[in-house]
Amino acid sequence: MYLYVRGVSMQTIDSILTERREFMPEQSFQSSANISFSDYQELCRQAEEDYEGFWARFARENLVWGRGFTRVLNEEHAPFYKWFEDGQLNVSFNCLDRHLPHHSAKPAIIFEADDGQVTSVTYADLHQQVGRCANALKSLGLVSGDRVVIYMPMSIEVVVAMQACARIGVIHSVVFGGFSAKSLGERIADAKARLVITADEGLRGGRTLPLKSTCDEALTYPGTETVEKVLVYRRTGGDVAFFPDRDLWWDVLVSKQPSDCEALLFDAEHPLFILYTSGSTGKPKGVQHSSAGYLLGAILSMRWVFDYKADDVFWCTADVGWVTGHTYVAYGPLAVGATQVIFEGVPTWPHPGRIWDMIFRYGVNVFYTAPTAIRSLIKLGPDLPLNYDLSSLRLIGTVGEPINPEAWMWYYEKVGRSRCPVVDTWWQTETGSHMIAPLPGACLAKPGSCTRPLPGIMADIVDDKGQNVQNGQGGMLVIKKPFPSLLRTLWNDPERFQQVYFPDNFQGRWYLSGDSAHRDADGYFWIMGRIDDVLNVSGHRLGSMEIESALVAHPQVAEAAVVGRYHEIKGESIVAFVVMKGTMLTEDEADVMALELSEWVTEQIGRIARPDEIRFGENLPKTRSGKIMRRLLRSIARREQIDSDISTLENPQILAQLGRACATRSP
Ligand code: WT7
Repeated sequence: MYLYVRGVSMQTIDSILTERREFMPEQSFQSSANISFSDYQELCRQAEEDYEGFWARFARENLVWGRGFTRVLNEEHAPFYKWFEDGQLNVSFNCLDRHLPHHSAKPAIIFEADDGQVTSVTYADLHQQVGRCANALKSLGLVSGDRVVIYMPMSIEVVVAMQACARIGVIHSVVFGGFSAKSLGERIADAKARLVITADEGLRGGRTLPLKSTCDEALTYPGTETVEKVLVYRRTGGDVAFFPDRDLWWDVLVSKQPSDCEALLFDAEHPLFILYTSGSTGKPKGVQHSSAGYLLGAILSMRWVFDYKADDVFWCTADVGWVTGHTYVAYGPLAVGATQVIFEGVPTWPHPGRIWDMIFRYGVNVFYTAPTAIRSLIKLGPDLPLNYDLSSLRLIGTVGEPINPEAWMWYYEKVGRSRCPVVDTWWQTETGSHMIAPLPGACLAKPGSCTRPLPGIMADIVDDKGQNVQNGQGGMLVIKKPFPSLLRTLWNDPERFQQVYFPDNFQGRWYLSGDSAHRDADGYFWIMGRIDDVLNVSGHRLGSMEIESALVAHPQVAEAAVVGRYHEIKGESIVAFVVMKGTMLTEDEADVMALELSEWVTEQIGRIARPDEIRFGENLPKTRSGKIMRRLLRSIARREQIDSDISTLENPQILAQLGRACATRSP
């Protein structure tokens, strides 16, 4: 019997990649870390012994409550769990007001724009701006529970807008500024938003993004009639259409408001935001998070995983359009009172050293980015970071997809200078905050492994019958107990929530992540990719990630993605899409290289993983958050027409190139 999860049958997945390098944090890091090894063991023990007591203690210690809670976890309507439900608080108060008595003059956000201009606000400034914006929202008649869609570029104002919503209990839904009018319109309609906050234009790598005109177009789509007003932040001063009955300028409406806006109390379970995430098929899912549980996850992971210290300068490069930009830009750093850097634009513009230069100029201590950014930075200049003084760094992290061991090593050596622990953090839009990640002062790191679940996170790897798989055997990554920062439901679609995340197979009680993983003898988790990316070659289930890692370990390969194609004998054969370092290969060079890479993979993993076809391109098709769209590569590999939605694709022209690319069969 096979269990069909998202259309793919799962037995077990064979794991084939063995990584043996190990790195201990330096003694000095260990001795000053927030969580030592013995603290870690103690926390795990406490969570095992008294699960609710464990979370209740942290919720009391880390959040400022207007009304304390008496009930910790309500499981009556599982999987619609409720945490701290009779407690009340205000999320914006927890991010701003709580710091004012002692840290009002501390810089909260340092913003560097695309053109290099720098703006910085203190906690007192931010508190005032949020108060003004919240009063502006109130003046438009918005009340607790209403939805506001935010479609803005990275800026201090976008954080202000999110915090202002939280302050008055309005539910925000941020849509990444790179999404099309159609995607924006769909999200506005699904959320039934009353207000959209946007900007005239955004700036990205020296080019302008037409945000306001995209928004105008989005509002012609059916279902968007709920929108009464559009609030427009003037970013560039560009010439945009303005409809006086509907549109309002931010600088006119917001700046005249009083800066005092009382932080009213809301229930712990009051929805804080909806964030749409695209499933592999169908319409986007509106992931709905709570207030208290979500914020608790953000705060604890800031302290535990990022080892946050009071004078740290923190920099997460994510855009607020993604969950990473919610938890580790708009909420987490503010809730712990950090000074953080944010930026507009792209890491590689105006020059490929921008990131390294910024780390130096702002004295960044904790730096958090995505493997896709790391790989593109490697491609632009493998030794470039060495030209910069990065001595302020003490911890570096990654998120978003499995990081190939070779990219991990580069990050560790060239950026962290073999001195900074690397935290590879596994989590999802749905989990709200880190789930599996090293506690950097307590944990030996292995390149490519996100290490072990955080205390209180009961992650496990099981087969289709819910049985534990043996070490080294791949299976489904599940979380066996509810935890505070988990999504509460899918907006407008509780049934889909239940089906997708709490399927009947496991009594409807375990959270199914949709990822496959295996565990090594030390209990370390190795994420093998989404379940839908699993290949089956000659009866062996292979995670796409492991073959890709082998390819990327070749000194001339910058990036690789592999997908399966139907094969009469083997079930599936492997088609690899490869981006080389440096310039594109000629046809003859490609033939030679394909052979070399096939041999290489055979050497690294075994014949079973040898690609049958290799295609070279300048890049891979990616979502705007940098995820490789394997669905599209699969269509190319199978020579199918691509007729699915490609509006979320960052670089659509690459499809044609890869489709044309001479496919080199390995003998
Ligand atoms: C999926 C979630 C969580 C914020 C950004 C992405 C993959 C995420 C890792 C990691 C291996 C990872 C998983 C997960 N993923 N972090 N450290 N190692 N894979 O959020 O868009 O909800 O994507 O990203 O496949 O399920 P998301």
